[in-house]
Amino acid sequence: MFQGNDTSALAVAHACLFLAMYPDIQEKVYTEIIEYFPSEEAEINAESLKLLVYTDMFTKELLRHCPVAPTIARTCMRDIELDGVTIPAGNVFIFSFWALHRRKDVWGPDADKFDPDNFLPERCHARNPNAYMPFSTGPRNCIGARYAMISLKVMIIHILRNFKLRTEIRHEDIRFKFGMTLRIETEHLIQVEKRQKIEIVTPNEQTREI
Ligand code: HEM
Repeated sequence: MFQGNDTSALAVAHACLFLAMYPDIQEKVYTEIIEYFPSEEAEINAESLKLLVYTDMFTKELLRHCPVAPTIARTCMRDIELDGVTIPAGNVFIFSFWALHRRKDVWGPDADKFDPDNFLPERCHARNPNAYMPFSTGPRNCIGARYAMISLKVMIIHILRNFKLRTEIRHEDIRFKFGMTLRIETEHLIQVEKRQKIEIVTPNEQTREI
């Protein structure tokens, strides 16, 4: 229950904050959503969600900055050597995805910048796949990863189709609090403004209001 609910709820909350902090990115995500899912009638499913290429890049960048499970621990079952250092069996490794996702030697000098373009195919190909693991990796990784990404996008579609998000909070003001999950310690205030109805002109010139 905890693994499935708290994580997804936090990811949606973080998504709203980052969309509000970056209005230009919010506009690009919104434009893409309106193109493919203009109204409640548009069917959202795992297949049709693949059309949301920029939204996918946004959600990945969001989980780079805010991996909601920021740290994991593993017990060392046998003596191993890492970079010339022997780690005896029985020790516990604490591994930080939060720190991994901010490594400048991996993500470049702008690692702290929020930039969905980090997930353009050409940039992904040039990077070690283990540089990014919000859902961990290996045999005990997150079993809900795919579902989590789908549910996050569905929530973003419903929120942005109806509301514009604003905030006074700046990215540099955010302070994180690390626990089982990643929380934002600073106030998390977002203004929600109902979007106006828009008109869509279809190729056969029929105009409809949504
Ligand atoms: C944004 C959402 C989510 C993130 C970032 C996330 C991240 C993670 C991470 C990092 C782990 C590894 C934990 C560890 O090794 O100590 C994990 C494990 C797990 N997750 Fe998720 N998770 C998310 C959503 C979900 C959802 C929606 C479900 C269920 C539907 C789920 C179910 C699980 C379960 C059962 C495990 C334990 C797997 C095992 O130990 O073999 N997670 N998750």
